[in-house]
Amino acid sequence: MSFAKDQPASFTNAIERVAIVGAGGTVGSVIAGALLKTGKHTVTALTRKDSTNTLPEGVVVAPIDYNDEASIVDALRGQQFFIITVAPTAPRDTHSKLVQAAAKAGVPYIMPNGYGGDIEHVKFGQDVMLGPVAQANRDEIDKLGMKWITVCCGFWYDYSLAGRPARFGFDFDKKELTIYGDGNTKTSVSTLAQVGRAVATVLSLKVLPDGENDKSLTLSSWFNKPVYLQSFVISQNEMFESVKRVTGTADANWTITKEDVHERYADGLKMVKTGNMAGFAKLLYARAFFPEDAGNHSDKAQNKLLGLPEENLDEATQVGIGMVKALQSRAERMAS
Ligand SMILES: NC(=O)c1ccc[n+]([C@@H]2O[C@H](COP(=O)([O-])OP(=O)(O)OC[C@H]3O[C@@H](n4cnc5c(N)ncnc54)[C@H](OP(=O)(O)O)[C@@H]3O)[C@@H](O)[C@H]2O)c1
Repeated sequence: MSFAKDQPASFTNAIERVAIVGAGGTVGSVIAGALLKTGKHTVTALTRKDSTNTLPEGVVVAPIDYNDEASIVDALRGQQFFIITVAPTAPRDTHSKLVQAAAKAGVPYIMPNGYGGDIEHVKFGQDVMLGPVAQANRDEIDKLGMKWITVCCGFWYDYSLAGRPARFGFDFDKKELTIYGDGNTKTSVSTLAQVGRAVATVLSLKVLPDGENDKSLTLSSWFNKPVYLQSFVISQNEMFESVKRVTGTADANWTITKEDVHERYADGLKMVKTGNMAGFAKLLYARAFFPEDAGNHSDKAQNKLLGLPEENLDEATQVGIGMVKALQSRAERMAS
């Protein structure tokens, strides 16, 4: 075990310089905002030089070019922690380019792309095809001598509720809902805000214990491990009850269709295999509601350890409904 007392005099036992890719993106903007709010971090946003995304106020902007490794290495030099939140639609080698540049720049710790289900739920990861990709991303970090900390938060509740019907089944414009199975299977979900708070909390801890007798929580407790969190463990029926409360609607206002959850997963998979990536969200979200093996990591959630606040379901539902229009204007995305 490493202790701060044994480090060279130049060692600072705190993460002060954080680099992030995707600071203008869905989860990256929330994480960058939460880090800035602590007042403990300088946040450098690596962004494609021709990006049109808006970056949060207060970040240091570092334009990069994925075809010019030196531009990425230069942006990462001197950074203590590197957070990758890159679009699932980015070219496949994007993550690897970032990780390799980080190794060359001497960045010790990386938070890889992920921000989804439990990485230890291997069958789930295989069934939704994201597990092996994320595993390869972590392996590459490991192989290059750096340490990773990944975030397992389940689906983003607000984003997934608001997104297209293929996610949690809601079409708010048409007032249509598709229920997978009996609608009672629960899955772990987190609000985007809670993900941001969790990352900011972990990165605000001491890096290492001072010495053998220091029992405080440190960043090092998560080296090569996931940070587990959830806002709620929730079924579609419970989401629907919340949606009705928040929108002041009743069952009669909604057209409800029930679908066998396993068939829904199989349909999505068939679509993906024939090149229709619209099937990806269908298979991914259906899989989380398999009653015999749901995407539920409640027993591992570290909310208390991290001191994360309890959240109100209806408030989170309201935030989600507020995102509907913005998400409709975005192209449906897929796992590349
Ligand atoms: N749990 C969930 O419910 C859930 C939902 C969605 C996504 N996720 C996961 O969260 C992670 C981040 O997703 P996100 O939705 O936050 O990403 P996003 O907002 O779509 O994109 C993040 C950033 O990726 C960069 N980017 C976009 N297209 C690119 C391209 N072609 N080449 C290189 N960079 C590109 C952009 O940064 P610049 O413009 O600044 O370069 C963008 O701001 C992924 O791992 C994804 O699988 C989880």
